[in-house]
Parts: sequence; structure tokens; C-alpha cells
Amino acid sequence: MLTQEALASGIDEKWAEEVRRLALEQDAVILAHNYQVPAIQDVAHHVGDSLELSRIAADVEQSTIVFCGVHFMAETAKILAPDKRVLIPDQDAGCSLAASITADQLRAWKAEHPGAVVVMYVNTTAEVKAETDYCCTSANAVQIVGAIPEDKEILFGPDMFLGAYVERQTGRKMQIWMGECHVHAGIEPDDIQDTLAKYPDAEMLIHPECGCSSQCMYLLSTGDLPADRTFVLGTGGMVRRMQESDADTFIVATETGMLHRLHQENPEAELIAANEAAVCGYMKMITPPKLLRCLQTGQDEVTIPKDIMDKARIPIERMISIL
Ligand code: 13P
Ligand code: SF4
Repeated sequence: MLTQEALASGIDEKWAEEVRRLALEQDAVILAHNYQVPAIQDVAHHVGDSLELSRIAADVEQSTIVFCGVHFMAETAKILAPDKRVLIPDQDAGCSLAASITADQLRAWKAEHPGAVVVMYVNTTAEVKAETDYCCTSANAVQIVGAIPEDKEILFGPDMFLGAYVERQTGRKMQIWMGECHVHAGIEPDDIQDTLAKYPDAEMLIHPECGCSSQCMYLLSTGDLPADRTFVLGTGGMVRRMQESDADTFIVATETGMLHRLHQENPEAELIAANEAAVCGYMKMITPPKLLRCLQTGQDEVTIPKDIMDKARIPIERMISIL
């Protein structure tokens, strides 16, 4: 069933039927991240967070994966399913966070800290993953860091807000790379407090990449934010919280595509974006016409040199084995 937004944008049911028909014809599975536009979420076979989609990519039976998300996510799918054809509807769909550290920068950082364990968020290129010991996502960063022996120095990157959040949660001091996602960095403590003042009974769902997350942890510890109604969660955790919560109103502090995903879980709930300008232009480069073109022409195929792919698989598999 297509949403009003999809119909209004000129995407009709014929488009959805053609996308599904071509996917079947080409033995393709369509995966969509929680931030994708509504029409693409609705037509996808699976919608999820970065970890859920990586796991699905590793297990699917189809010979082609069409990844509707940003480039590093499609690369992760290719790394976990190297024998499959992995397509992304626009290979220029990047990520400001992944772009904040290069493999050369990471090598130089490691040289300054010999013996340190490198933990990198999955929002990194395959080349950076090839230099990494453990990958993590926003859903499991605390557990991954908790699994590293206490006497080891940790280099954590590239997101400084997620790093500060993990330090607070684990009580463990780390070396943190000063990278950020421009979308989440723009969601500030004032956005949360102003929205909470308007909706005092709302539950708050806050992504740990937000510029407000470390301050929110502080406000939680001082009692200035309600501990029973404030949740710092990755996008998959927000979906699960929505399924189990009795609240009527939710303040959602992450990319606004998430509101469509959460609305599917609980159409009755009132969903308020903490900052309506939190839109990831890279995620929105994946449009319905480009998805159709991708299935028709096989553009764009994700390719990674084999030696990089084999090295990059190790930290991803270590992450998956811990959970
Ligand atoms: P999740 O890992 O929570 O899906 O987030 C991915 C992402 O790109 C955050 O901006
Ligand atoms: Fe990257 Fe931020 Fe967009 Fe997520 S929201 S894909 S971290 S730029």
C-alpha cells in the first residue's frame, strides 16, 4: 500500500508493481534503511537499521542485493556477501560521518598509539574497516567496548558524540576521533528541551549520534530529563521501543525519515521531530526513479578490491560474533 506522500510525489502503484516484478525477474532482494523516503521503505522487502540490514544481506538467498541506503552500507553488504551482485541506485550517496576519517588518517592515528584496539562505527569506508579491529553500530557500541580487555587502549571513531555516549555508559576512557554526522550534530540540547516543554508527557527517543546525546546523558544523571521516558537508541532500537511502549506521544531525535518507519509500527501515536531540518540529503539521493533505473540497467554496482574486502570482513564478523 503506497503512502499519501508517495502518491503525491507522482509515484503510483504501477511503479511499485514494476519494481517488485523486476526484482523477482532478477532474483533481487530490496533492502532499505529506516531513513529512506516512504515510497522506497514501502516497496522494499526488508526495512531496518544498519546492523539488521547487514545481517539480512549475509543471509538472503537471492543472487542480487539492491541496497537503498548510503554507499558504506552497500559496501558492508558486499563485504558480507562477496559472491552476490550488490547494487545501489546512486553510488554518490555518501555519508559525512564516513567521510570524516580516511584510511591514511587512521593509519597515522594507529602509529601514534601502538598496541591500541581500534573500534570504528560501521559508518566508515571499506578501506577504513580494513584498518579496524572491531566495527560497531549505534545499537551495540557499548557492548563492543565492554568486551575489550580493561588494560587495552581504545581508539574509537569516527563519531565524537557516539564516543562520548559510550564513555559515559561504560565508564571507560578512550581516544575519540573528532568526526561527526552533520545531520545529527545539528540536533542540539535546546531542540530537546524546547520540544519537551511543548510536549511534557512525551517519551523521548534520541539517537546517540545527536549533538545533544552527551548533554542529554548529563541531564538524565542530574534529573533534568525524565529517566523513565528518555531512551538513547539506534534506529532499530527506536522501532522496538515503539512496539512495547504505552506512550501516546514521542519526540524523535534523529533523521526525519524515521518518522515514517515509526508511524508504520504505531499509526495512532503522535510523532514529533526534535528538529524538522534533520534531513540526510545523502539518504534522499536514493529516489524512486533511480531505484527503477537500477533494476532496469544494473546501475550502480558496488565493487571493492578483494584484499580490502577480506580485511574489512574481519572487524564486521567480530562485531556480529559478540552479539
Ligand atoms: P543506525 O545504525 O541506527 O541505523 O544509524 C545509521 C546512520 O546512518 C545514522 O545516521
Ligand atoms: Fe551519514 Fe548522518 Fe546521513 Fe547517517 S544521517 S547516513 S550518519 S550523513
